[in-house]
Amino acid sequence: MLKLPERQDRSSRSTCRGYLGHEFSGVVEQIGNDVAAYAPGDAVFAANETGGAYAEYLAVKPAAVARKPANLSFEEAASVPVASQTAWQGIFTHGHLEKGQTILIHGGAGAVGAYAVQLASHAGATVIATASGDDEAYVKSIGAGRVSDHRKEQFEKVVREKVDVVFDLVGGDTQQRSFLVLKEGGHLVSAVQPVSQEEAARHRVSGEMMRLAPSGDVLAKIARLLEEGTIRPDVATVYALQDAAQAWKDIATKLPRVHGMSPSGPAAKHGKIVLRVA
Ligand SMILES: NC(=O)c1ccc[n+]([C@@H]2O[C@H](COP(=O)([O-])OP(=O)(O)OC[C@H]3O[C@@H](n4cnc5c(N)ncnc54)[C@H](OP(=O)(O)O)[C@@H]3O)[C@@H](O)[C@H]2O)c1
Repeated sequence: MLKLPERQDRSSRSTCRGYLGHEFSGVVEQIGNDVAAYAPGDAVFAANETGGAYAEYLAVKPAAVARKPANLSFEEAASVPVASQTAWQGIFTHGHLEKGQTILIHGGAGAVGAYAVQLASHAGATVIATASGDDEAYVKSIGAGRVSDHRKEQFEKVVREKVDVVFDLVGGDTQQRSFLVLKEGGHLVSAVQPVSQEEAARHRVSGEMMRLAPSGDVLAKIARLLEEGTIRPDVATVYALQDAAQAWKDIATKLPRVHGMSPSGPAAKHGKIVLRVA
């Protein structure tokens, strides 16, 4: 086990259970007898399934940890683990996305969606995303070839070609209509809700709901892409720990349109909220 002084954490709409704070970046304080990969003083980051990142010290399994990208601040690094690994596992582990394929990402401007757009684009896939119209330029700037405005049109009416993978970060009717745009043999992966197996069989596709399984190996690959500048993190605001209640109030007030905002400055449309703990 590693014992880490925890630096900061963020969360927007959280699916977390237990203690608050499921991702962090910090410096290793102590290691267990069986830990060879890390030493006290190492800068690391991780998603921690059991939570607890709203604290100065946190015990975490080394298998979930990776070295913090050298070019990121602790605040930036703390914003990465949950959204980026969910995106990676959604599109590659469960969606089996390959170079040359086409993926439709629902919610491409959100925290997970923005990583999915960047990772899929970097992998050589054609990326179509659904988002609000005012997010179109942003989502295109991070790698989407096309963006369908979910407030103005039904994506299945404008996405004429069939896609290999749908990554669903929205659920409901959006998930249901996704069967209409999938190729036979394609994959519908949802991070939000179970996928009807009857519908999947009827359309001859696979359908599954995924759940993030934090992995130091996956996070290390993501760290390399961050260091190369191939993908980038997005921090909207950093709050001090004592302002955590205000951060949650601000999120609750502004959702669903704004996921991060400055208490004093203008609202930021994108990005994670980070708490600085130490
Ligand atoms: N299974 C897992 O392990 C796991 C892990 C992480 C997250 N999640 C879940 O994944 C979902 C996304 O998380 P997130 O952190 O990326 O959320 P987020 O940052 O709040 O992003 C959601 C995005 O979806 C957009 N959106 C809303 N309705 C839409 C629609 N009908 N069509 C297209 N886009 C739409 C929102 O934009 P507008 O509001 O501007 O339209 C927003 O940009 C959440 O439900 C979260 O709980 C699951």
